[in-house]
Amino acid sequence: ACQAMLASLVLLLGLPLALAAEPPTCAPLIPVTFNNATVPGILGQWVYIGGASKYKPHLAELEAVKHAVFSFSPGSHEDELNATETMRVNETCVTKNTTKIHIFRHNSTLVHVDDQVSSMAELIQSDKDLFILKHLNNNFLSLSLSARTPNVSKEHLEEFKAHLHCLGFGEEEIFFTSEKEACPLPGEKTGEGSAEQQLE
Ligand SMILES: *[C@@H]1O[C@H](CO)[C@@H](O)[C@H](O)[C@H]1NC(C)=O
Ligand SMILES: *[C@@H]1O[C@H](CO)[C@@H](O)[C@H](O)[C@H]1NC(C)=O
Ligand SMILES: *[C@@H]1O[C@H](CO)[C@@H](O)[C@H](O)[C@H]1NC(C)=O
Ligand SMILES: *[C@@H]1O[C@H](CO)[C@@H](O)[C@H](O)[C@H]1NC(C)=O
Ligand SMILES: *[C@@H]1O[C@H](CO)[C@@H](O)[C@H](O)[C@H]1NC(C)=O
Ligand SMILES: *[C@@H]1O[C@H](CO)[C@@H](O)[C@H](O)[C@H]1NC(C)=O
Repeated sequence: ACQAMLASLVLLLGLPLALAAEPPTCAPLIPVTFNNATVPGILGQWVYIGGASKYKPHLAELEAVKHAVFSFSPGSHEDELNATETMRVNETCVTKNTTKIHIFRHNSTLVHVDDQVSSMAELIQSDKDLFILKHLNNNFLSLSLSARTPNVSKEHLEEFKAHLHCLGFGEEEIFFTSEKEACPLPGEKTGEGSAEQQLE
């Protein structure tokens, strides 16, 4: 109501628009426009950095994921990816190596079908070394950030956090992972340093 009143006052007084108080606007989340380079560009390994959700059941999942690494490889056709993931859920390391991702290019959507559960997310345009997904569950927004390396740059991290705050996420709705919680990856040497990997 205040904004509307301000707008009408501005019109009435004929003030230059630049003087009006602009409501804060968040930079839009633009879905990736798929081209031939998009899928090759997301193949390989990603480290999940953090996420935020306004959907309570999803929030509980985000909170439980302490660390996650996932990897995409070509699937059996061009609109399918094979995915493997290794994550720490609470204290437990879990590896899934048989996940399939379906790609819907026309609406930038990735669909992850895992047994009975299917989840859908839009791939958001960003830096080539970042992987940002936007999920909508019953109109509740969730966002996740993954990167090629665990040491995501300060600028990228700050930008993501600023975006979350701009979208109205509170601190209690945002969870970041920690490299200290990394699980040994399948096939990784577990000889040296395995003592440190053991759980208390
Ligand atoms: C992209 O893919 C389309 C359809 O598969 C093909 O016709 C086109 O030549 C490709 N473009 C490039 C630059 O590879
Ligand atoms: C993708 O996974 C399927 C099994 O789910 C397998 O048959 C296929 O060979 C895999 N594709 C590649 C390119 O590894
Ligand atoms: C993780 O731990 C929390 C708190 O102890 C618990 O509420 C939650 O159910 C656990 N989640 C999973 C997936 O084990
Ligand atoms: C996937 O995991 C299962 C058991 O965890 C293992 O037997 C199988 O060899 C793995 N497949 C690949 C392609 O890594
Ligand atoms: C994208 O398209 C697929 C197939 O047409 C559809 O099932 C899905 O709901 C769409 N996703 C979004 C986010 O609109
Ligand atoms: C992260 O670490 C890798 C390997 O140590 C290094 O090549 C890269 O420049 C680092 N990236 C940032 C953003 O610090």
